[in-house]
Amino acid sequence: MSSILEIIKGRRSIRRFQKREIEDEKVRQILEAAIWAPSAGNLQPWVFVAVKDPKTIEKIKAVSPGMFDMPSAIVAVCRDMKIAEKTGNPLLSIFDVAMATQNILLMAYDLGIGSCPVRSFNQKAIQVLLDLPDHVLPELLVTLGYPAEKPSPRERRAGTVFFERYGGYGGELHE
Ligand SMILES: Cc1cc2nc3c(=O)[nH]c(=O)nc-3n(C[C@H](O)[C@H](O)[C@H](O)COP(=O)(O)O)c2cc1C
Repeated sequence: MSSILEIIKGRRSIRRFQKREIEDEKVRQILEAAIWAPSAGNLQPWVFVAVKDPKTIEKIKAVSPGMFDMPSAIVAVCRDMKIAEKTGNPLLSIFDVAMATQNILLMAYDLGIGSCPVRSFNQKAIQVLLDLPDHVLPELLVTLGYPAEKPSPRERRAGTVFFERYGGYGGELHE
């Protein structure tokens, strides 16, 4: 059993995948993790569309320059603007879908599945491909697949953490 810090630190963006199907039960668990994210005012202004059909994945790839290799599944993480606009500040919903996305990445990693959040795609084309209504905006595509690479940890930028005040030193977090 891994600790949450081991899971957080061990996750990497994976951009090369094995040609191996992801079990439906695992996709469901990943989506369950997504819907348990926190959200402003508990509005849960998200919509998730999970895609496993290779033909649809090919079409999504064709309009997503930031997507690499052929993932076994994709989760489109979307904002429902009709729900997001129920608050005075619909921009808050970006935080909500970001938090749901992190849950997806960590749950996938814990299940042995590699993932990469992708923002570089044609939003309108994805709306059409997935039959999303106009008020449902795809914000991130998460590619999923059993990893065919093991990238080394990315460096952490030093000088980003302070204690008590900006500039306050509390010991180095980085090795
Ligand atoms: C909002 C956001 C958008 C991203 N878009 C892309 C993308 O379009 N294509 C891609 O390959 N990676 C994308 N990434 C993944 C980042 O490149 C990656 O998280 C970063 O390099 C750190 O590596 P790590 O995830 O292994 O820690 C995105 C990440 C975030 C948070």
